[in-house]
Amino acid sequence: MPRKIRRIGILTAGGDCPGLNAAIRAVGKTCIGEFGIEVMGIHDGFRGLIEKKANVMALDDFSGILTLGGTILGTGRDKPEKMQMPDGSCRNMTSEALQSYHDLGLNCLVCLGGGGTQKNALNLMKAGVNIVTLPKTIDNDIWGTDLSFGFDTAVTIATEAIDRLHSTAESHQRIMVLELMGNRSGWITLAAGLAGGADAILIPEIPYDPEIVAESIRNRGRRGRKFSIVAVAEGCYSRAEVQKAKKKGVELAKRESRTCGTGCLVATELTRITGIETRETVLGYIQRGGTPTAADRILATRVGTKAAELIAQGKTGYLVAMRGGKCKPVPLEDVAGKRNEVPTDHPMIESARLMGICMGDEV
Ligand code: F6P
Repeated sequence: MPRKIRRIGILTAGGDCPGLNAAIRAVGKTCIGEFGIEVMGIHDGFRGLIEKKANVMALDDFSGILTLGGTILGTGRDKPEKMQMPDGSCRNMTSEALQSYHDLGLNCLVCLGGGGTQKNALNLMKAGVNIVTLPKTIDNDIWGTDLSFGFDTAVTIATEAIDRLHSTAESHQRIMVLELMGNRSGWITLAAGLAGGADAILIPEIPYDPEIVAESIRNRGRRGRKFSIVAVAEGCYSRAEVQKAKKKGVELAKRESRTCGTGCLVATELTRITGIETRETVLGYIQRGGTPTAADRILATRVGTKAAELIAQGKTGYLVAMRGGKCKPVPLEDVAGKRNEVPTDHPMIESARLMGICMGDEV
């Protein structure tokens, strides 16, 4: 018989995203209002748990936050297993995290986070913490869930960026390269590229050939379309780069976008090959800011209330996923350490190809 849960802690970890506050609100209001479970807000992610930066929250604390971007709890990328110390060294502080959990009188910890958070949560679970996680990330790359909140908002913002690039691209007859986030997955770029009518969509799951992208742009020119929009995911690599890495047996590291990132490289290549003037835009953190879309608010509210229901039933050790339109608990062991990549036969890719959009591997 699962032990009755009387007090939970809630924290947000990893990169922030729109919808976090909507989810915090859903967990808080349902736990307190419906089930009489006490809620402690833990500040600044796992570091805040270790440092016991926490306070009991009242029902009122969850009001007026639905539309807010970011997270009222603050966040961080710290891992209890590898906490960075002031002198730069790393320490495993899992047992300190467990001690704080007990000291704060918690019976369950709700972690709102992406792929990294699922791993951290599983480690804490193995150490003895009752855990429930919620799927948060603009990247939509959490394994086991069809969707994560933050994604729809990011796609909406990225789509608007493509819409706005169209008029300036056409006026100047330029190639416009737009670099979008997504870490190692291409979900944002694929969805926004399709919604915004990009002419080429480059995603990490399909290594691109710059000659092929250039040829598709030249073909547009032959048809009288003198401008092109290329949506590029930050995690993209060319075929040549992928082959080289394979030969050497190394994994391709994330490119440093702060200097010449993926968009910049693609823009440089396309100018060199086509001779057409090319400009590059890096949309960056704009994709993570501001108010969540209605779809993200609904998703965050649904998984948040479902989490509260599971907690009230004493069921822990799960990610509350959205599968086939239904909230479903998925065991954390199944989720942690895996990544949800875009399948190369995804219907959005099929549609893109049928529309003559270049995916980087064929003209
Ligand atoms: O996971 C969300 C995300 O915005 C990724 O798309 C991006 O690669 C990364 O976070 C940026 O990380 P940071 O916030 O640490 O700069």
